[in-house]
Amino acid sequence: MSSVQIKDNIYWVGILNPAMRIFDVVMKTEFGTSYNSYVVKGSEKIALIETSHARFSEQYFNNIREVCEPKDINYIVLNHCEPDHSGSLRELLKLCPNAEILVSKPGSNFLKAITNLDNLPLRIINQGDSVDLGGKSLDFYIAPFLHWPDSMFTYLKSDKMLFPCDFFGSHYCEPYVMDTSIEYTDKYKSAFKGYYDAIFGPFAQFVKAGLAITDKLEIDTICSSHGPVLTKGNQLDYVVKKYHDWCEAEAKTKIPVFYCSAYGNTKQIAEKIAEGISEIAGGDTAFCFDINEHGFDVLSVAINSSKAFVIGSPTINSDAVKPVWDLISCIDAVGNRNRPALVFGSYGWSGEAVPSIVNRLRDLKCKVFGDGMKVNFVPSELDLENAYNLGKEFAQNL
Ligand code: FEO
Repeated sequence: MSSVQIKDNIYWVGILNPAMRIFDVVMKTEFGTSYNSYVVKGSEKIALIETSHARFSEQYFNNIREVCEPKDINYIVLNHCEPDHSGSLRELLKLCPNAEILVSKPGSNFLKAITNLDNLPLRIINQGDSVDLGGKSLDFYIAPFLHWPDSMFTYLKSDKMLFPCDFFGSHYCEPYVMDTSIEYTDKYKSAFKGYYDAIFGPFAQFVKAGLAITDKLEIDTICSSHGPVLTKGNQLDYVVKKYHDWCEAEAKTKIPVFYCSAYGNTKQIAEKIAEGISEIAGGDTAFCFDINEHGFDVLSVAINSSKAFVIGSPTINSDAVKPVWDLISCIDAVGNRNRPALVFGSYGWSGEAVPSIVNRLRDLKCKVFGDGMKVNFVPSELDLENAYNLGKEFAQNL
């Protein structure tokens, strides 16, 4: 696939990869993905916005050459430095000896370690900075944790175009560049939701902050880093509305109670804790997940988008059980910092599971409520009452 003109002097020069099925080792991409990159030409200067994954460098460089000489590029804008957008930078710089890299302060630190180059031609971008290309200028908005600490948005006012890197993105590739070409809209919407859940769901509060920026801008085209370019009258209004809906919903969200239960004892405690939480926080706030009955893609979204969470495990061979540890390994430590958590479990001999989970969650900087609740073998009526009251207390302290 070669370059695509989006507007006058603005081109898509990225990579389409409809065959990709696993992104970044862990993320299923049923509909492939794209690594989007854009060239913006002013009357005096040329900017390249985002680069590409190192694996596709040669094809990517050829796409750039279709619309400009790389040596004529003045600015390389990196709105976010994850290697799918910065992996080709080291080689690209050899072709662009006159380019300055425009990047946020955290991004500048990442780039030094990503490229292992000491003399990167960096210009640190601060909130409100802009650069003039001649007849077109790029305005920058710092947008941390969307979805990395380095994230920022680039806005091209003259053409009403937003370049927000992963924000509003999707792993979807039919393979066409523009949303006007999407044939399977339902599949696109499903991929868009999956991407939001995996990448931005854990950062709902930052999504709100990002929307507060973009809502003030006049935008008729969103050029994200993955998925189709989004245009007014096609998918643009849909994606903006959905981000609003989803982050609002998540702000009020639910408190999942996860558990594994060998003989139904830990399950009984889970249900009583959930009842206690819902008594205080509202009818359907808490809901139980038997970990073994759900896929980790679902569990991961549930824990990372929660307002608070509860985890229960029996103790088997002096430890929590493997599915519980697998769930804990899904926790996004950045997004869950200070997230309230409660731990519980039934045990037979010694009950190491609860303190082990408490310690791990504290290592992840979650705000663990007390030392958790341990019940020996089958919960008595009193144990169940205590579990119910513990759920209430946990909810009252949120
Ligand atoms: Fe597409 Fe966060 O990189």
